Amino acid sequence: SPPSLRLCVNGAVHEVGVAPTAPLLAVLRNDLGLNGPKYGCGLGECGACTVLIDGVAARACVIPAGGVVGREITSLEGLGTRAMPHPVQRAFIDEQAAQCGYCLNGMVMMAAALLARDPCADEAAIRRELSGNLCRCGTHVEIVRAVLRAAT
Ligand code: FES
Repeated sequence: SPPSLRLCVNGAVHEVGVAPTAPLLAVLRNDLGLNGPKYGCGLGECGACTVLIDGVAARACVIPAGGVVGREITSLEGLGTRAMPHPVQRAFIDEQAAQCGYCLNGMVMMAAALLARDPCADEAAIRRELSGNLCRCGTHVEIVRAVLRAAT
């Protein structure tokens, strides 16, 4: 059986029996049942799988689980709850920024990381931050509006 890894996810320690080379995204989804992060391209190119590693946005599909032992991993589930959404989640709901929703995990995680380090981010900064996250529905205008709403 594969060696077990200790991962700190959303504030709790989890022992998972996976190879250190297993992609973090697969571990989150398959072993921990965290389906907020999505599998889009699997190549680090679309952003659907974004999580925070020690508060910094990262693409979980190309991060080996063994590389984030001892780091603080936050998935969408750890950002906010239905009863108490993160301000970015609240703003996405208020602006009805979702269409199919597949890209939203990445958009929300990127925006949350941006606003954590720059709470007054302007539209240009938001556009720059989200430019590498693909949305096939073309809802970028609503998404940027939502992030602007969450910025102070
Ligand atoms: Fe990870 Fe596309 S699924 S970047």
